[in-house]
Amino acid sequence: MKKLILDLDTGVDDALAISYALGSPEVELIGITGTYGNVLVEQGVRNALAVTDLLGHPEVKVYQGLPHSSTTDSFSVLPVSAFIHGENGIGDVDIPDSNRSVESEPAVDFIIDAVKTYGKDLIYVPTGPMTNIQAALKKAPEIKDEIGGIVLMGGALTVPGNCNACMEANISQDPEAADYLFRSGAPTTMIGLDVTLQTLLTYKETKRWRDLGTKAGTFLADMTDFYIKAYETTSPNLGGCGLHDPLAVGVAVDPTLVTTLPINMKVDLEGPTRGRTIGDVDRLNDPVKTMKVAVGVDVPRFLDEFMTRITNLAKN
Ligand code: BDR
Ligand code: CA
Repeated sequence: MKKLILDLDTGVDDALAISYALGSPEVELIGITGTYGNVLVEQGVRNALAVTDLLGHPEVKVYQGLPHSSTTDSFSVLPVSAFIHGENGIGDVDIPDSNRSVESEPAVDFIIDAVKTYGKDLIYVPTGPMTNIQAALKKAPEIKDEIGGIVLMGGALTVPGNCNACMEANISQDPEAADYLFRSGAPTTMIGLDVTLQTLLTYKETKRWRDLGTKAGTFLADMTDFYIKAYETTSPNLGGCGLHDPLAVGVAVDPTLVTTLPINMKVDLEGPTRGRTIGDVDRLNDPVKTMKVAVGVDVPRFLDEFMTRITNLAKN
């Protein structure tokens, strides 16, 4: 059975990504590694523990990752993140804290150990900045050839960014880390805004969760309604909220949900396009392409999988 690690800055769509993974019997979620972005790393792991408890899966271990990029000394949450995900990251919905603690093993070591244990069966799904995987690749470079795959949410190839014209939020937090991953040769699929802004959720779907009348259903509906409401302000013409992080999990479970372009990618690190994810012209003629970028998505099939899996999970 495929094993997944989710690396999350547990905000609203990260919590939906956890739900998708837990609702997928084809895969085993062997751990969650925490990163920073939508919230501080400490709040992100707190959310991951509380959400897995609420969804009836207290067996999922949570590991704390690095608190900021290797090029900065600290990290502060941007006001826009608090507006989109809430001050607490989960739509300002109040759920009980877990009485479990974060594991003592650091996230970077857990990632390396998991690759050594599961090899090609392991898919690592980062849906925040790429800081933890950069550190893991620096510490144990051989894991790039041993891991089954990396399916990341971040970047944009054919559409503008969501921070500015060039930068998508996850890449913006640590462009150097993303560039390191993109050039590492690890088998990586990029699920960027090209496809995640096509997979939209509305109040009609969250009502189905609310109507379940369960704690999990009410939580998921309240949290996601906060996120949809923020999208109504930030992207009034979109018609819903983007299912960014759950789509990455969806593709990790079933790669046929997207069509991809094989390409060697890089991240611009200098000048006004800093943070842009783009084809690496220096490796244009390299016959080996180590990355795939999702450029098309089967929207109805993904939305159906998303709703079926999460609704079944939230029934109890
Ligand atoms: C990404 O940024 C974060 O706000 C979301 O959780 C998602 O991972 C979308 O650009
Ligand atoms: Ca995220």
